[in-house]
Amino acid sequence: MPLLPLAAVRPLNPLLMPWRRLAARAWLREADCDYWLQRLHPLLSLNRVYARLLARRWVSDDMLALTLQCNGNACDWRPGQHVQLFREVDGVRLSRCYSLTAVDGRGRIELAIKRQAGGRLSGLLQDHLGIGECVELSQASGSLRWPSQAQGVLLLAAGSGITPLLGLLRQALASGYSAPVTLLHYVRERGQRAFAEELQALMQRHANLQVRWSLTGQAAQGDELSGRFCPAHVPERAAEQALACGPHGFVAAVQRWWQGGETPASLQSEAFSPAPVDAGEQTCVRLAFRRSGVACQGDTAQSLLEQAEAQGLRPMHGCRQGICTRCTCQLLSGRVRDLRSGLVSDEPGQAVRLCVSVPLGDVEIDL
Ligand code: FES
Repeated sequence: MPLLPLAAVRPLNPLLMPWRRLAARAWLREADCDYWLQRLHPLLSLNRVYARLLARRWVSDDMLALTLQCNGNACDWRPGQHVQLFREVDGVRLSRCYSLTAVDGRGRIELAIKRQAGGRLSGLLQDHLGIGECVELSQASGSLRWPSQAQGVLLLAAGSGITPLLGLLRQALASGYSAPVTLLHYVRERGQRAFAEELQALMQRHANLQVRWSLTGQAAQGDELSGRFCPAHVPERAAEQALACGPHGFVAAVQRWWQGGETPASLQSEAFSPAPVDAGEQTCVRLAFRRSGVACQGDTAQSLLEQAEAQGLRPMHGCRQGICTRCTCQLLSGRVRDLRSGLVSDEPGQAVRLCVSVPLGDVEIDL
């Protein structure tokens, strides 16, 4: 039983500032402070973000929305960003990246968890995370933003790519955005249309919003679209700006369309899976991880993160999907390709995300 009520956790946070300064100068051990703070309430911490589960609700057949109350260390979060959620499973600390579908100014957030085939964390969270339990989160990051000056916005989502876009859409409509907005959501089956009831209610309330779903694994009915993203799905009404989120193949198709002609003036996109690697491209290369003093033979097929781990190194990482930036290291020499965008980096000193970068020849990394 915590000694303090949940309501006292956030007001107490600014009072911890002197202890933070002492811990930053190594005059106190942060872990010791956290130990005693958590005797008062499990959400209290000098710097870490802990959150308590307040509510769970199913928003599609395979997606569960969690409402969480964060402690006072969740700083300036906004919808459309994403956080890592950490959970220990059988003694192993696992993490997974989830988008913020809602954020209020009092530390209350919503995350939506989609069940992944074979996913160790998503199934566990859906089936076993109970009301009142606490989880640890990373700070939020991510660059998707609502283009509030645009005279029309097109939102393109596939699967759980709906989650950051829904967060941005909710906030924009609540703050009075009145230019036309079109949302196209691609799902395999009708039961996977996450937040469908809420989106339909939003359409009733906001005449400027149009939402359509496209089914890729079932026959379309009524005004549903059919199949994967294609330019013919994009409605006539002009959109100045577009935002796209989904797996790599979907985002790549949207980018090809956007580069190809009379399309919105700008496109923000975020892919939550890297491009598949063509095993036929594999060749042997020399890898050097300078600070670890490791030099080894590698290949051009696996990510630098996987190859570093195969050498027994433990680089910091989170999502393993190129989103959270936790695995970013400096390229010291050589060329690497980003699997999401295909962009090649060859400037010494350039930051590369190890989880979505493959070497194109001999490389040296500051790891
Ligand atoms: S582990 Fe998240 S970007 Fe690489």
